[in-house]
Amino acid sequence: PETGCLSIIVLGASGDLAKKKTFPALFNLYRQGFLNPDEVHIFGYARTKISDEELRDRIRGYLVDEKNAEQAEALSKFLQLIKYVSGPYDAEEGFQRLDKAISEHEISKNSTEGSSRRLFYLALPPSVYPSVCKMIKTCCMNKSDLGGWTRIVVEKPFGKDLESAEQLSSQIGELFDESQIYRIDHYLGKELVQNMLVLRFANRFFLPLWNRDNIENVQIVFREDFGTEGRGGYFDEYGIIRDIIQNHLLQVLCLVAMEKPISLKPEHIRDEKVKVLQSVVPISDDEVVLGQYEGYRDDDTVPNDSNTPTFATTILRIHNERWEGVPFILKAGKALNSRKAEIRIQFKDVPGDIFRCQKQGRNEFVIRLQPSEAMYMKLTVKQPGLDMNTVQSELDLSYGQRYQGVAIPEAYERLILDTIKGDQQHFVRRDELKVAWEIFTPLLHRIDKGEVKSIPYKPGSRGPKEADQLLEKAGYLQTHGYIWIPPTL
Ligand code: BG6
Repeated sequence: PETGCLSIIVLGASGDLAKKKTFPALFNLYRQGFLNPDEVHIFGYARTKISDEELRDRIRGYLVDEKNAEQAEALSKFLQLIKYVSGPYDAEEGFQRLDKAISEHEISKNSTEGSSRRLFYLALPPSVYPSVCKMIKTCCMNKSDLGGWTRIVVEKPFGKDLESAEQLSSQIGELFDESQIYRIDHYLGKELVQNMLVLRFANRFFLPLWNRDNIENVQIVFREDFGTEGRGGYFDEYGIIRDIIQNHLLQVLCLVAMEKPISLKPEHIRDEKVKVLQSVVPISDDEVVLGQYEGYRDDDTVPNDSNTPTFATTILRIHNERWEGVPFILKAGKALNSRKAEIRIQFKDVPGDIFRCQKQGRNEFVIRLQPSEAMYMKLTVKQPGLDMNTVQSELDLSYGQRYQGVAIPEAYERLILDTIKGDQQHFVRRDELKVAWEIFTPLLHRIDKGEVKSIPYKPGSRGPKEADQLLEKAGYLQTHGYIWIPPTL
């Protein structure tokens, strides 16, 4: 592993993302020994004029349960690694001060040897990405003769459509090389999303089945049981497709549908993701159902005539040898009846099925991303007992039970660690982002113009009934009388 001074600079240090995700992830990495206190220093940067101590106070409560004595000690040591610099996002003066603070730390830590590594985490709205990147490039690049690097971590929204995204990409691309840019999609940091590659390509079970000959349809579903609470203003500009489907669910689709990469090298994997996205055909209006939960517009920051969807089901079709004719149903919604994310692969009926009249449902392979990570295969078995009846059951790999005592790392923890190690496998490449926008931009423009309407649905429901009808039309057969219950320990 690389050694030498590591400076992690969190821009937008007092904002929501930094407090809720970035600093807690850094603290967890620190606690587990991944950030060596002899090398690491963390800088917060934002406009608000506050002291180091005030920043520490603001984030402290998000990091740990302070009653946990063991963590409390680590926490106070961790907080001492954080310094704060205030300044504007578009003027050199602040960034020069930031550079000076980083350099002082580098000199004191490195004395004469070792490289210096600078990781800039932009926990900021994308509107300031171009100016902040410009300032970093002008004032804050790694200057060590002994090697090291400068990297930039950014997070969605990367634009609002193809054109704005491409504009943002070229503005940043003029300043930094693609190998320096880490576009986070935190779904790529989830345990079971990362597991997809292993599952598909390391198991003989799946190899012959994973195609149009055997699979009837694929669903990738995201549900939340709460609304846009407090984020109405942001959300109304984007809507559920830009917030969840175009990024998180589409990334999952790539991993479900892509061909086997030549090797595990990040570029090989990302090449395959791009290819499968390029095979997606334009979305047809009659394969889209949009919804908006009743009460969404009560938020003061949401216009009274908003058509922004808080729910969407869209079917993507992949025009290639493996998937022709198999609908990929992407569904996401806020204020629904449950909170979960899962991939559901439904197999075709058994040909010449001699149990047809008794059978409850098709084979399904479900990968539960959250909560209660699990994979289970729904299958038909003989109902135990004297009669020759069949029943739907499952082969269940529930992580909580199978991996007792194993803590599953948070997505952000892993991803930040990857940025330090320089592994871009779980980050979105520029060409990947471009195709992702190509797929959804025509539909998004029609929604923005009000040509595709959101249907109202009751908060706490399954969403508009039209979505279930679309699912049925796409060939999804719901299993009746079967509910998977996560095992309790
Ligand atoms: C974010 C979206 O990217 O993901 C939020 O902006 C959403 O609207 C969140 O709530 C969901 O993430 P997770 O990890 O809780 O499923």
